[in-house]
Amino acid sequence: TWTTAAFVEEAIREIRARVGQKRVLLALSGGVDSSTLAFLLYKAIGDQLTCVFIDQGFMRKYEPERLVKLFQEQFHIPVEYVNARDRFLATIAGVTDPEEKRRRIGHEFIRVFEETSKRLGHFDYLAQGTLYPDVIESADTNVDPQTGERVAVKIKSHHNVGGLPKDLRFKLVEPLRKLFKDEVRKVGRSIGLPEEIVQRQPFPGPGLAIRILGEVTAERLNILRDADLIVRQEINQRGLYHSYWQAFAVLLPIRSVGVMGDQRTYAYPIVLRIVTSEDGMTADWARVPYDVLEVISTRIVNEVKGVNRVVYDITSKPPGTIEWE
Ligand code: XMP
Repeated sequence: TWTTAAFVEEAIREIRARVGQKRVLLALSGGVDSSTLAFLLYKAIGDQLTCVFIDQGFMRKYEPERLVKLFQEQFHIPVEYVNARDRFLATIAGVTDPEEKRRRIGHEFIRVFEETSKRLGHFDYLAQGTLYPDVIESADTNVDPQTGERVAVKIKSHHNVGGLPKDLRFKLVEPLRKLFKDEVRKVGRSIGLPEEIVQRQPFPGPGLAIRILGEVTAERLNILRDADLIVRQEINQRGLYHSYWQAFAVLLPIRSVGVMGDQRTYAYPIVLRIVTSEDGMTADWARVPYDVLEVISTRIVNEVKGVNRVVYDITSKPPGTIEWE
């Protein structure tokens, strides 16, 4: 029978046999796959592993800091933190089209990844959190005709983009390739990953950039981050985090009139998007208790400067999508 302990032991043996004395590069995202992967590799090969975390500036409030802190302080795994916030903001400055935003963010990700990997020296291997369902599709890897090995020609990031330049074709280490998602969660849990990572709600690669409709600016990012934090705090506090597939805030690039005290306000609306789903393919808007909605709304309008209205999205998927862009 399959046990996590046996899996971990076997995975470590395989990793050592495969990479020998060579160096391995790993891109951390903060999700359960890349976190579990990092843990296994570090246990197997120690500082032959280099973990890179690219901060695009589109993550939720406090998440980049927490991720780096968790790895360094709890796991004692060094993480190369790359602050690329300004570059990513610049690369989408003035862009309002959703697909164009995604495209530019994806390309910038590859550029930053490439630069970082070259700056840190030569790596023979790239560690990827490929799972069993991805192996079956196998679309993002090629087999080297000379050696018959699987090599990375793309970075399998949650951007799903990214032809790698020819001089950066890594060999792959994929210790999770026989696992399904629920098995990865079990392994993650068994090695001490906190529940907030093991059960993390899905989060899109372009992050908050696609939850600000229209142009993304530093000001709008700050507003959305603060509103989104309130949504999470109120949901978490009531033990509702696992009841929903996703719960988050979206910022609309329009303004409406309101009144606060005896002052007229003219500010952005925030949309609450809270859904239930089995797999993200279809979804239903969650029947969140009114009192929870009320607290979230009151707190956002009172605490987040620049917002004077909160609306609740009651559209299912289909015909709506979960994200707004
Ligand atoms: P939609 O908005 O299409 O989203 O209903 C379905 C699920 O996919 C997530 N999503 C993404 N995940 N990169 C990702 O890794 C992306 O670019 C992306 N866009 C949407 C979304 O959060 C939802 O869970």
